[in-house]
Amino acid sequence: MSHADLVARYAALAPAIPVLTILDAEDAVPLARTLVEAGLPVAEVTLRTPAALDAIERIAREVPEAVVAAGTVTRPDQIATVARAGARMIVTPGTPPSLAAALAVGALPAMPGCATVTEALALAAQGFTHLKFFPAGAAGGPAWLKAVLGPCPELRFCPTGGIDAGSAAAYLALPNVACIGGSWMVPNDAVRARDWCRIGSLARDAAALPRS
Ligand code: 3PG
Repeated sequence: MSHADLVARYAALAPAIPVLTILDAEDAVPLARTLVEAGLPVAEVTLRTPAALDAIERIAREVPEAVVAAGTVTRPDQIATVARAGARMIVTPGTPPSLAAALAVGALPAMPGCATVTEALALAAQGFTHLKFFPAGAAGGPAWLKAVLGPCPELRFCPTGGIDAGSAAAYLALPNVACIGGSWMVPNDAVRARDWCRIGSLARDAAALPRS
């Protein structure tokens, strides 16, 4: 299966991709199991903490039914590192040309980030079909996505950044939104308290969100 087909398949698995910033790698497996059981099998683990690579490795090894993506990938050299850790997809917050070129020939499927039509078109020209729209809330929200449907009808987006349970439905109702991303179903205080029950409940609500 091509990388573009794999990304389309992962994006179709659930309406929402939880964005996980993991401080303690011990949390990774119970968190991933909770999300999978709630109906959210795809998760983005951001490379923003020292525990991130360990967390990706543990999820890949111990929760094979999860599709673990490496997020906040900002440099080409990180592609091989996250592939070795077991990530099955790469997500970027923004995609400078050197990173886009490396992702286009890299070992893993990618959902590169963009925030403008120019960036979206540049990524489309390199063969990417599903793009992260980041930071979605600050960069234009559902109105931006509606506006780009005209000039870029073939592109599908995963808006992420500033989305919560209240704004999710407005994004998911749009025909060019494949899924949405966010951290609202994994609140920091619940992770710190290892309150998997609360996270499971928030994740089940996210998994039940209707899509267009
Ligand atoms: C990301 O990296 O995608 C964002 O930090 C997630 O945004 P949110 O925390 O506003 O959901």
